Amino acid sequence: MSERTRRVWTAWQERQPRLIADVLDALGRSEGTAFGTRLNVCLADLIEPLDAVYGGSTDIADLCERAVRIALAAAGARPEELRLLDRRREVDRDWFQRPRMQGYVCYTERFCEKLANLPEHIDYLAELGVTYLHLMPLLQPRPGENDGGYAVMDYRAVDSRLGTMHDLEEVATALRSRDMSLCIDVVLNHTAREHRWAQGWLTGDPAYADFYIAFPDRTIPDAFDATIPPVFPDRAPGSFTWVDAALGGTGGWVWTTFWPYQWDLNYANPDVLLAMLGEILWLANRGVEIFRMDAVPFLWKRLGTNGLNQPETHSLMQALNGLVRLAAPATVFKAEAIVAPEDLVPYLGAHDRYRPECDLAYHNQLMVMLWSSLATKDAELARHALGRMDPIPPGTSWVTYVRGHDDIGWAVTDTDAASMGWNGFSHRRFLNDFYSGRYGDSFARGALFQQNPLTGDARISGTTAALCGIEDSLDRGDAAALEQGVRRLVLLYSVIYAFGGVPLLYMGDELALRNDRTYLDDPALAADNRWMHRPWMDWAAAGRRHDPETLEGRVFGRLQRLGAVRRGVLALRGDTDTVLLDVGDNKVLAWRRRHPRSGTFVGLANVADTDAVVDLGRLAGLGDLQPVLGSDPMEVTDGRLRLPALGFWWLAEA
Ligand code: GLC
Repeated sequence: MSERTRRVWTAWQERQPRLIADVLDALGRSEGTAFGTRLNVCLADLIEPLDAVYGGSTDIADLCERAVRIALAAAGARPEELRLLDRRREVDRDWFQRPRMQGYVCYTERFCEKLANLPEHIDYLAELGVTYLHLMPLLQPRPGENDGGYAVMDYRAVDSRLGTMHDLEEVATALRSRDMSLCIDVVLNHTAREHRWAQGWLTGDPAYADFYIAFPDRTIPDAFDATIPPVFPDRAPGSFTWVDAALGGTGGWVWTTFWPYQWDLNYANPDVLLAMLGEILWLANRGVEIFRMDAVPFLWKRLGTNGLNQPETHSLMQALNGLVRLAAPATVFKAEAIVAPEDLVPYLGAHDRYRPECDLAYHNQLMVMLWSSLATKDAELARHALGRMDPIPPGTSWVTYVRGHDDIGWAVTDTDAASMGWNGFSHRRFLNDFYSGRYGDSFARGALFQQNPLTGDARISGTTAALCGIEDSLDRGDAAALEQGVRRLVLLYSVIYAFGGVPLLYMGDELALRNDRTYLDDPALAADNRWMHRPWMDWAAAGRRHDPETLEGRVFGRLQRLGAVRRGVLALRGDTDTVLLDVGDNKVLAWRRRHPRSGTFVGLANVADTDAVVDLGRLAGLGDLQPVLGSDPMEVTDGRLRLPALGFWWLAEA
């Protein structure tokens, strides 16, 4: 511990007795004792990260006390029902690790138009086994273009087109009564330029001084832009936008990592952290249980870097997590960090030493590797890349997914590609060609997103069904190819339901919804082709879900079955390790998981359009594995399991 940190601790000890007296006063003996105990438990995880970020410029004991008092106020205002949930979750800290956890992701308006209609669709979600519902951005966005709701102008109001904050609370309550958790986005990195903070900053309101970042000329912006890759190179190159009214009206280049109307917050100012803490806690008290922390890697800026994953970013997340847990222990953080595999695990707190940070994180690498495997019809790169990832800390978990609302960026590192003798750039280009349907025998109907003419990079848009060949085979009226497409889609879900972590089903995949081109008619959406894979729910199609003769019935029934079986397999808990296996055929992605109570689980997935053979001898020693669920009848000859094209098996010890 540095001398400076030691001084912070001493200063803190002087403040603590008064603070604890206030805690007991505000919350009473029972709640106050719980809060005080939580504070003691997490204190080091507050003081140390705050000191690491702000120690040079701020009185840390004072900052920490201000932060804890914000948490205290929120704890005091926390509704009784949520305090009971806190109590349950503190007893059952593993709640989000259980195999019963299964997510569903949708846009409220595209799923059911308004929040008030959502409760009547909970039965539909329950049929799929959903216990976690992520409603895509629904807080008050700016008018006009809003990046799918990621340009928030008020964190305490719901988009009036969807309903009111009261409706959101009702949704949270309705979900909770069915043992389902509500997840929403917290857009941490930036606000809309119309946000009260941004407007206050522009007009020189001292309460918002230094809330954003601006430079009078291009010198510093050019220096940053030289090393920071643009997120939206085609329409928003660079990370800065000229704003006439900035810097007291003399004009300035405002930091805008994403679109020009999304202004990056300046986390070098501790007041920004405290302001964001206040918003998150307020939302926690409305009944939100899982916070999807949007675009976290971008929080801290450093010259000469790519502007991602800076140590301060991790410290900020650690401090925020501790503070939110203090007031609302029923909540968890999910990191949206779409970064290289080696940069991903630290968001779950795996640093040189474990530091509690986010509880969940998107397994971007698994998602990318699955699509790459389908295109190459070979799982070796996936086995290699996934196999070399660091284990995640105990108590944390992945969220696994096939498709989300964003484009797919090919996070295949040059090192991983080289291990296959491939050139990283060429492989990424092949994937773009393949999924945009430009490659000879491609079954996919995706589209390129954000082509960067300077670097040749691009990403891919398209629904799962479109990328799996379902759209193409339907258009061509090819029944055999359609069945292959369905098998491909189910295969992907068979992996993410069993790889470890909370699987997320993206709305529409359960019905194989194809690309939606209606966004082209809306000028606020037309330029962003990510909308093609954000379809409107087709309730007529959903009405066919129980008819196994229909496409919808074939897909829905199989996904439902994956969820039902998953719930009974203890080794699919989130926090046990996944180990990649070599089963003697590169077409097969194979992995094992183990739980001390239930024994071993093995998953097998043939990513190719031709049969594969699994040498069961290679699984000897893993226990008495029995078939639990498979895509086809089990066929074993002489210790070799035939895995048909795009087939899967789940095996587990009884
Ligand atoms: C996240 C969202 C993406 C959005 C960006 C900016 O990456 O998933 O849709 O454009 O953040 O908020």
